[in-house]
Amino acid sequence: MPQPAPPGPAPAIELRNLRRIFAARGPAVRALDGVSLDVAPGEIFGIVGRSGAGKSTLLRTVNLLERPDSGTVRVLGGDLTALDAASLRRARRGIGMVFQHFNLLSSRTVAGNVAFPLEIAGIPRAEREARVREVLPLVGLTEKRDVYPAQLSGGQKQRVGIARALASRPRILLCDEATSALDPETTGEILALIKDLRDRLDLTVLLITHEMSVVKAICDRVAVMEAGQVIEQGRVFDVFTRPAHPTTRRFVAEVIGHVVPQGTVARLPEPGPGEERRLLQVLFAGPSSTRAVVSEASRRFGVDLNIVSGRIDEIAGEPYGLMALAAYGAPAAIDAAAAWMRSLGLDVAEIGAAMLESAA
Ligand SMILES: Nc1ncnc2c1ncn2[C@@H]1O[C@H](COP(=O)(O)OP(=O)(O)OP(=O)(O)O)[C@@H](O)[C@H]1O
Ligand SMILES: [Mg+2]
Repeated sequence: MPQPAPPGPAPAIELRNLRRIFAARGPAVRALDGVSLDVAPGEIFGIVGRSGAGKSTLLRTVNLLERPDSGTVRVLGGDLTALDAASLRRARRGIGMVFQHFNLLSSRTVAGNVAFPLEIAGIPRAEREARVREVLPLVGLTEKRDVYPAQLSGGQKQRVGIARALASRPRILLCDEATSALDPETTGEILALIKDLRDRLDLTVLLITHEMSVVKAICDRVAVMEAGQVIEQGRVFDVFTRPAHPTTRRFVAEVIGHVVPQGTVARLPEPGPGEERRLLQVLFAGPSSTRAVVSEASRRFGVDLNIVSGRIDEIAGEPYGLMALAAYGAPAAIDAAAAWMRSLGLDVAEIGAAMLESAA
């Protein structure tokens, strides 16, 4: 019997039915077309989507750098859209922001950059210096406090960007493509840092990216955006292992990849008379006796199922497996075998020609 969901903590970020249309130049663009999202306290929530999907507009709406045409923005319980200018400025200090291109001032030292927003906010010098001393160790830059940005690596620059965001002691961190300008190794370090800061400072993180590998590395939940709408959202593991929307499937494929090397396909035998040959991708969550399922399906339905390739990986700390099968048999028998495997909880999809080409 279905149980009612236990009442969770109130969301740290609660977005309801946000709409934003840009109409100033040329045809109107629905950058946000009815977006609703809840981000739980302490969560790292990813938003993924192609260029122009509306991700940055959505992120900027969370601290009202972008004002929605309609909809509500509640952060830590308060409705930001209802605040006057002074209260909004105060509320924004609780929301740190990290940018793709760091946005550092080249004429200021590391310490000067970190202190800059505090200066704007009118915080006295002694307090500013105390905050700088507080946040630089958090990002591992204590030794670099008097260095200028030009003397820093990309990863170090982003650490400054993060320290600057933390200087106002925010509860919420918004990251807009924070690792997109960095090489893969540095990306990994910065993502690990963000996760560590979430744990140590009990932050809630809303992170946007166009890379599913970033989502896979650190997010708890993810929303996929397309044309101003959230087309799918859920726990990262669920979205990766059971993507429902074709766009999500494509994103997931970037990380999970296709398991059929082109050469392998070329070497597969042709189907016999009255037979069809189909390639199937089987995705399974958790440890599974998938090989046993495959041989049982083969026996039951009189289909020749050959494991062409396969591998095991981990998403959000949970194991999953991905396998490619070459199926030979009567079309109806292959359908029945696939349906039977699905009934056992395996995700079975046909690998079309397009997927093979994109894997090349
Ligand atoms: N200030 C603006 N004026 C006019 N159009 C805008 C403005 N800001 C964004 N847009 C348009 O709204 C849509 C969504 O833009 P947004 O920057 O939110 O996308 P994005 O998902 O962040 O893309 P990217 O991955 O390239 O950063 C795009 O079509 C963009 O051109
Ligand atoms: Mg953007």
